Amino acid sequence: TPIQRQTSKQRFVSEFSRCLFDFVIQLLPTTEELTIKEDVRKLLERLIRTIEPESRLLSFGSTANGFSLRNSDMDLCCLIDSEERLSASDLVTMLGDLLERETKFHVKPLPHARIPIVKLSLEPSPGLPYGIACDIGFENRLALENTRLLMCYAMIDPPRVRTMVLFLKVWCKRRKINSPYKGTLSSYGYVLLVIFFLVHVKNPPVLPNLQQMPALRPISPEETHLNGHNIWFFDDIRLLRQRWQSSNTESVAELLVDFFRYYSRDFNYNNGVVSIRAGLLKKDGKGWQSDSDRGTARERNRLCIEDPFEVDFNVSRCVTRDGLYTVRGELMRASRILASRPERAIVALAQLCE
Ligand code: GTP
Ligand code: MG
Repeated sequence: TPIQRQTSKQRFVSEFSRCLFDFVIQLLPTTEELTIKEDVRKLLERLIRTIEPESRLLSFGSTANGFSLRNSDMDLCCLIDSEERLSASDLVTMLGDLLERETKFHVKPLPHARIPIVKLSLEPSPGLPYGIACDIGFENRLALENTRLLMCYAMIDPPRVRTMVLFLKVWCKRRKINSPYKGTLSSYGYVLLVIFFLVHVKNPPVLPNLQQMPALRPISPEETHLNGHNIWFFDDIRLLRQRWQSSNTESVAELLVDFFRYYSRDFNYNNGVVSIRAGLLKKDGKGWQSDSDRGTARERNRLCIEDPFEVDFNVSRCVTRDGLYTVRGELMRASRILASRPERAIVALAQLCE
């Protein structure tokens, strides 16, 4: 009967929510890991200052935005406060030499990459069973800002937002659809899909749109713009929590079921653009058609996710036709597993991440 169906659904989602929390908690980095990473950051900062005394080394990406899993890599950004400074590629070369001499890291400087970086890694050891992987870039201030934006979203409703994002990060890694180099989507892309869903798809929304909230005081363009991009967003989360409360009461399991359904069935991949800043946009409106039907398959715009600040930048530009096919197949698979509501929620979770 409908009532029996309803209660079986309720039982499943409440059990599945509990499973998700328990699962995600085990995957958080330990305090020890966080301490080691902070020590590494300080050590590297000290070494960089022997080349550029006015520099700071800051964390961005998952180590700084609240969406970090155990053993995730470290993304570091070097900011140089002096007027006269070396070019990024010279810095990469010099820093590479210095780290090679002074540390035990494997060092790989990439001075001629589109964004010059130094890649570092440390072999696993008893105290550090997974080693360390770290990228150091320079002056990537937009990445620091988008990290701060994601962190603010995580802080508004940690039980639902962090649990969903962390689960999806594990899921996409286990299902092997998290490699921009192989034509699938970056972690950053998946996080933007979740935030878009919680801000713009769910009704009532789970999260407010931080980039569209009214500012509490007049703000000058110098404060809000960086390299021509508007980077303003409402970042006083304490105040926000006093003034804004979501009227959406769905559990994390219900949201996840809906997330998979939305991206496997409802989202229009041919024409839709995911924009956390402006809501659902159209590819033609942005000049982002993928041209697949004209034979010249411009792979760049198969999947379109607008960067929150660099609005001309498609975060998922690396997703290829085959990559998108695989990702969508996985979204459908997940949706199917959840729709079948296995007797035990833990079984659903294991199947999802098989
Ligand atoms: P894991 O490393 O898998 O834990 O995920 P992560 O959250 O660190 O994400 P990822 O490594 O994909 O990206 C790290 C950071 O780099 C992001 O938080 C962004 O700040 C920045 N970033 C990554 N990809 C892009 C991109 O395509 N465009 C821009 N503007 N920034 C990016
Ligand atoms: Mg990272």
